[in-house]
Amino acid sequence: MKNIKIVATGKYVPDKIVTNDDLSKVVDTTDEWIFSRTGIKERRQATIENTLDLAYLAANDCIKNVNYSVDDIDLIVVATITQEDKTPSVANLVSGKLGIKREIMTFDINAACTGFVYALEVASSLLSSGNYKSALVIGSEKLTNVLDYEDRNTCVLFGDGAGAVIIEKTIEPNQANFINRSRPDMNEVLTVGKFIHMDGKKVYQFAVEVLSKSIKEILETNQLTIDDVDVIISHQANLRIIKSVANSLEIPLEKFILNIEKYGNTSAASIPILLSEYNNNQKSRVLMVGFGGGFTYGAAIMNL
Ligand code: ACO
Repeated sequence: MKNIKIVATGKYVPDKIVTNDDLSKVVDTTDEWIFSRTGIKERRQATIENTLDLAYLAANDCIKNVNYSVDDIDLIVVATITQEDKTPSVANLVSGKLGIKREIMTFDINAACTGFVYALEVASSLLSSGNYKSALVIGSEKLTNVLDYEDRNTCVLFGDGAGAVIIEKTIEPNQANFINRSRPDMNEVLTVGKFIHMDGKKVYQFAVEVLSKSIKEILETNQLTIDDVDVIISHQANLRIIKSVANSLEIPLEKFILNIEKYGNTSAASIPILLSEYNNNQKSRVLMVGFGGGFTYGAAIMNL
């Protein structure tokens, strides 16, 4: 348990909307197939922005939302699998774009769609070490760069966007807890080389299993019930996956907030985008849960 709190949230999604009907002109698919199998109606596509721009614009939104002074940030962690260059890191470039003058710690994390939950735990642990006071944690993805528009199995599922949070230490106790793990026996099931490749059925089964397990475990570890949590913010990959988890844990679907219809799967960006859309500056306890390539999975309980 760490005394860490979310003090600001923000997001950025590109303007260009790509509907299911638009994609049906590119690959052999239909709005009916995509919506009924996934819950996705449309997704965003970055035309001029790259992963760095998306990250910067989400960070800027987060900072502006609470008038945060960038000079207070002394750690930046970006979760992404779509960075343009191997180095410098997106986090390092974001610090420059934000105009941060001090020399602070910056790095990226790769844990695919679980990246944001991993980044939250890593940043929280660094804050707890006492060496840092304020961390900007970002999930940013330009997935349309790694989509094969001849593969209808994958190109209909993903979109671009970014979300960000600022976290700080708090004197209130029992604020945050995490579980983050990976499995080494499913490396081939979802890969991103030049393009995303995946075995959709295996991903689906894995997702339902680990999302259910993670929600149960993090509640039990914190001696909480689902009623102690205001909302579940799950990685947005497929509405059917979320319905199946809700069903197996006997949690009302209303407890899960959703935006998959608008953005599709934005990998490491999906949880912070959703968090930002949920945040209305009311106190609340959120349970975040994700899964992704690797395979990785994780959950976090934090307070807003
Ligand atoms: N339009 C029309 N038909 C399609 C499309 C499409 N876009 N894509 C696949 N099909 C076809 C298939 O070719 C198959 O045809 P066939 O029976 O003639 O071979 C048929 O539809 C049925 O395919 P299924 O795989 O049985 O469809 P399913 O109901 O399993 O749904 C889906 C596929 C949506 C991919 C599902 O398996 C899924 O959501 N899996 C999880 C995916 C996921 O979450 N990925 C990302 C997670 S990790 C991360 O976020 C990076």
